[in-house]
Amino acid sequence: MQPLEHLVKEHRLIAKAVSASEAFRNEINAGGPIRPRRYWKLVDFWSTYADIVHHGKEEQLLFPAIVEQSVSSEYNATIDKLVEEHMYLLGYISDLRRWARPMFTGDRAARERVIRCLDGYLELIDPHIKLEDTELFPAAADMLSKKELNKLAKEFKALDARVSPNVHSYYRDIIDNLMKE
Ligand SMILES: [Fe+2]
Ligand SMILES: [Fe+2]
Repeated sequence: MQPLEHLVKEHRLIAKAVSASEAFRNEINAGGPIRPRRYWKLVDFWSTYADIVHHGKEEQLLFPAIVEQSVSSEYNATIDKLVEEHMYLLGYISDLRRWARPMFTGDRAARERVIRCLDGYLELIDPHIKLEDTELFPAAADMLSKKELNKLAKEFKALDARVSPNVHSYYRDIIDNLMKE
């Protein structure tokens, strides 16, 4: 699979996780019971799949390849913005961990904090993905040679394998099951 298609495919699973997270957010906002098991599955998805597996490929591999190949610095500002947004997204995840225990033990303020974190994450992720899909990835596809794209594809596979040999099917199943619950 071409490396940019690989990332777009990951975006599709992330978009499904956005729907699952929105449903979860609306349930806890309505005062419903919060099941820790479900909460930690979502937090694990955003930490491991979205941050390590997906943002890891972008930040450690794709973005440096674009910066190296671009004749001018026209994509540097876009990449700086995307990296900054990855940092904000990661910040929301650490807040979701931080407020989990007080929320589960009944603290209303912690529940509000968790809802605000989910809102912040979900507001940021959609335009972020859109910017990559519609602007940066097509530019990268034009800019990178076949050789560079093949190198990236191999590096992407190696990164996935370092996380787990079945990382994609594992997280796809998690999200599919969360959507059925
Ligand atoms: Fe990104
Ligand atoms: Fe992305």
